[in-house]
Amino acid sequence: MIRQTTIAALVALGLGAGPALAAGGAGYVKDYDFSFEGPFGTFDQMQLQRGLQVYTEICSACHGLKQLYFRNLGDSGGPDLPDDQVRAYAEFYEVPDDSDDAFPGDMRTARPSDKFPEVTAAGAPDLSLMAKARAGFHGPYGLGINQFLKGMGGPEYIASLLTGYTGEEKFEAGTVLYENEAFPGGWISMAPPLYGDDVTFADGTEATIEQQAKDLSAFLMWTAEPKMMARKQMGFSSVILLTLLSVLLYLTNKRLWAPVKRKQA
Ligand code: HEC
Repeated sequence: MIRQTTIAALVALGLGAGPALAAGGAGYVKDYDFSFEGPFGTFDQMQLQRGLQVYTEICSACHGLKQLYFRNLGDSGGPDLPDDQVRAYAEFYEVPDDSDDAFPGDMRTARPSDKFPEVTAAGAPDLSLMAKARAGFHGPYGLGINQFLKGMGGPEYIASLLTGYTGEEKFEAGTVLYENEAFPGGWISMAPPLYGDDVTFADGTEATIEQQAKDLSAFLMWTAEPKMMARKQMGFSSVILLTLLSVLLYLTNKRLWAPVKRKQA
């Protein structure tokens, strides 16, 4: 009886640990479902394209993606844009001109071989690796057990951040702070970037705040780990190969020792 209640309590802690149990003043992170979760999860190409659109039309005003090359947008396993679209997309951006006859400060139109420009004006962090730089799940009691069950929670954190504004504001030390349930500490200096219907998706998906937040988070997971699908496939075939090898070794071992063992009997 005692053991049963202990197990029930542990399960409740591990699976149901809510905001009250989160450690270190961390905020509330909702466990969103993403297509790339689990050992066989893959990126959803349409979702990545929608996320790219949200980034381009809204977040790129303040946030850079300086680790990403424009040509990566054409990668299979990623947004998989056709070459002409990648080129057309890059041409929307200006990058510093570093050719020999350019003056310092000269700009030129970006090409697919360029990286996304750095954006520093708003004092906002670069988003290229954000999905891996943040952990959404910490509990219970900061032990991190939830990370085994639900994953690190980087994309969940970003989606929760974008949907977590309460509408409260305060003016402190010369800046406006916005209350946000997901942000550690509860007050962030980024104004709510999404209000719903901020973009119009080409595939007809309704652009609710939550939808845009999820698509954007999936896109940032891809920018942070573009080779995730290749990695999972490689892991899967390695496990199969090693299993096969173990079976063969076991049978070989049995066969080699068979005459010896028979003599003893
Ligand atoms: C008007 C400028 C602006 C826009 C537009 C903007 N942000 Fe921000 N963002 C900021 C600033 C400033 C910070 C730093 C906030 C802080 O640390 O208090 C920030 C911080 C962040 C963080 C980091 C939070 C953390 O845990 O440190 C994420 C993630 C983020 N923004 C995502 C986005 C996304 C996604 C979009 C587009 C939907 C977006 N932002 C649009 C200005 C902006």
